[in-house]
Amino acid sequence: MVPFPAMIREIEERLRAVLVDVCPEPDQRRRLIRLMTLFIGLPSPPNEGGHFPQYDDLKERFLGSLVHGDSELIDECFLDLYAHVHMHEAPYTTDERRSVDRSGGYWCHAGGLSPILKAGDWITPDSVSADLGAGNGLQGLLMQKLYPHARCVQVEISSEAVAIGRRLQGWLGIPEVAVEWVVADVVDAPIPDVDLLYLYRPVRPEGRGRLFYQRLAAGLARSTRRTVIFSIADCLRDFLSNRFEVFYSDGHLTCFRKTS
Ligand SMILES: C[S@@+](CC[C@H](N)C(=O)[O-])C[C@H]1O[C@@H](n2cnc3c(N)ncnc32)[C@H](O)[C@@H]1O
Repeated sequence: MVPFPAMIREIEERLRAVLVDVCPEPDQRRRLIRLMTLFIGLPSPPNEGGHFPQYDDLKERFLGSLVHGDSELIDECFLDLYAHVHMHEAPYTTDERRSVDRSGGYWCHAGGLSPILKAGDWITPDSVSADLGAGNGLQGLLMQKLYPHARCVQVEISSEAVAIGRRLQGWLGIPEVAVEWVVADVVDAPIPDVDLLYLYRPVRPEGRGRLFYQRLAAGLARSTRRTVIFSIADCLRDFLSNRFEVFYSDGHLTCFRKTS
């Protein structure tokens, strides 16, 4: 069931009151509430291929937590719903699986909500963002939905994950031109020139993977943009020029900005 707008406003008020302890930073809390109410207001995602079998149950559980739960339960139920839509294991063809193995690639772990909530400080309407190793692109899609900007480039090796991502884009009502989907191996794909770069260790920094980080770092150093980098389980740091400094790190997410 999709709640009515009046119900959503009531839920927003309740969330404003209870989410302070799980999300103390006011701007990020506001964005988290927008994200939660976005999911509350959406119908079930397009389920071609049966990729979201638990969505309706998880959504019911999340809605139930809003009535009966404390902040931790609400947060946990929402994370479960988000992680289900994110999909933990992207579907690969045999060739794609071989390429992922060859470059020591990581399977599709979810980057989590914190980069999405923090990215709002760095994205303006003119920004171009990218996720290298995007899976079904949910991270970039949610950033594009919360902070509409010029373009989000999603590079992913799994063609099926990208097909699912395109359907999620329609589900979220994001205009076609706002997202550029690229099915490619990041090791040899062109590196997009962007204002916000997001990545969650698509490849290990060894063998072929090392070439990717070297090429990425060289492109970032050359670029005239003051690119902000959000890197999960970071292994780019050792390759970056000293024009970049870390401005946030929590052991999961490391953020860099260009100083000159
Ligand atoms: C850890 S997941 C991150 C997914 C998403 N970016 C996030 O943060 O939630 C890594 C992603 O990189 C993709 N990947 C692995 N090797 C790759 C390669 N060589 N080229 C492009 N994508 C790759 C995987 O298919 C997977 O979707």
